[in-house]
Amino acid sequence: MHATYDSSPSDQLAVHKQVLEKTSISELFSQQADRFNEMSCSAAGITLDYSKNIASSQTLELLFDLARQRQLEDAIQKLVRGAPVNVTEARPALHTALRNPVHLDEDVAAAVGGTFAEMEKFVRAVHEGEWRGFSGERIRDVVNIGIGGSDLGPLMVTEALKPYKKPFVDCHFVSNVDAGDLSEVLKSLNPRTTLFIIASKTFTTLETLTNASTAREWLVSAAGSNESVVSKHFVAVSANVAKAVEFGVVEDNVFPLWDWVGGRYSLWSAIGLPIALAVGMDNFNALRAGAGEMDKHFTTAPLEQNMPVIMGLLGVWYVNFWDAHTHAVLPYDHYLRFFTKYLQQLDMESNGKRAVLAGGNVDGHTGPVIWGDVGTNGQHSFHQLLHQGTRLIPVDFIAVLKSHNPVGDHHSLLFSSCLSQSRALMTGKSLQQAQQGFQAMGYTADEALALAPHKEMPGNRPSNTLVMEQVTPESLGALIALYEHKVYVQSVIWGINAFDQWGVELGKVLCQDIHAVIERQETGEALDDSTMGLIERYWQEHNACK
Ligand code: F6P
Repeated sequence: MHATYDSSPSDQLAVHKQVLEKTSISELFSQQADRFNEMSCSAAGITLDYSKNIASSQTLELLFDLARQRQLEDAIQKLVRGAPVNVTEARPALHTALRNPVHLDEDVAAAVGGTFAEMEKFVRAVHEGEWRGFSGERIRDVVNIGIGGSDLGPLMVTEALKPYKKPFVDCHFVSNVDAGDLSEVLKSLNPRTTLFIIASKTFTTLETLTNASTAREWLVSAAGSNESVVSKHFVAVSANVAKAVEFGVVEDNVFPLWDWVGGRYSLWSAIGLPIALAVGMDNFNALRAGAGEMDKHFTTAPLEQNMPVIMGLLGVWYVNFWDAHTHAVLPYDHYLRFFTKYLQQLDMESNGKRAVLAGGNVDGHTGPVIWGDVGTNGQHSFHQLLHQGTRLIPVDFIAVLKSHNPVGDHHSLLFSSCLSQSRALMTGKSLQQAQQGFQAMGYTADEALALAPHKEMPGNRPSNTLVMEQVTPESLGALIALYEHKVYVQSVIWGINAFDQWGVELGKVLCQDIHAVIERQETGEALDDSTMGLIERYWQEHNACK
């Protein structure tokens, strides 16, 4: 089933899909001599090859018509000019202003500039050993305590930029309320030389506050129950300064955040502090500059050459017209191994919505499930389903031309693996080819006929390939901004708000209720039989342990 829009582009796309169903990507290549050149574009150091899609130039024209019908060009300008595009929370989503503060009013621009200056000062103090712990020793380890956008972005970037790491401190990330997370990190750390960053926009997040309190106990007990040491070992990044101060962070050590920066768009702000501590402020600024280049492209390129627009529209094409439920993102670079995990929050927390801003619910589907892992590891696990499973799963391959570790032929093998996967997905293997293969192996004609369907690969599975020279701060910044904008494009087409996340609230409230029952502060009368049965199982275990 496809989404229905209120005028012709979507109807035309639905009809057009029936035509394209009768052809294949390989046939489209034979019909269009210069298909790679015509269906690829470059911006901010990234090349997008979208020629291996089930799409002709007519498909793209219809998709651009759809975008214009949805007033996408206007929506792009609204985003970067600070219009309240986060309509349900009546505020802008101005993450782009953290890369290119051109559209900020003077007060806000001064606050942003001031924060970056404070970050720079702090990073220098830690790197140069001016910032000392309670024993007078310099800081050697930094632990970022945060979750969701206050964890995934900084973690992904810090790992991706490991080749740029400065030698001064090691950064660690703790997110889960499962004490295993914090305990495993603390095991190898020295309280005298460890600094904690409490990263929480709201400073009310259960996981973060629980971990922060436990970390504080660990520190204070190592300092002979001296509470005053907290100020030397804890800084915070938050929009809720009062709560951070209440926790024990000195007000001057609370780096501000603003309500116009969404959690999953916040790595460009002081939430990026662990990035700056790991790779230096120069590289953090280069990351922002790379994103700024992609912003420029997004806001100035015509739709027909606009990379985030093209990626967003092709995604809509598969979700709404080809019934694709999921979208795989497969980076062929070890340093990008957390990229898909980061993208899951960016995309699914943004576009996992059903309520349309114009009223009512969306007719059809919105954001797909985003999944994937680093290549080549996925090839020896879930790629089987990509090649022979029953579902159509569009794929984004991300490849780099130059390795940070040029050892033997590792990199040419990695790059070849990436290209061979997109090619295999496109061409597949016919029943006849499979049959001939079995016969060549010595099977009888009957045996080959029986076995061939198990080796047949339907092919015609679409993919984009993104290529960059190397994972650098600039190219990584551009890549992240590309996906941020792709997500926004899709939200505009679907008419949903990409910037709230109210779907996560109910679970938070219920957790408090259930925790009160588990701790026997409430009776749990209102709970269902299953939940109560499981709580009783928990009680049995804990009573048995007493
Ligand atoms: O629960 C979802 C969420 O609100 C995310 O949107 C956010 O990134 C994360 O929690 C962390 O929130 P905070 O930074 O306020 O602790």
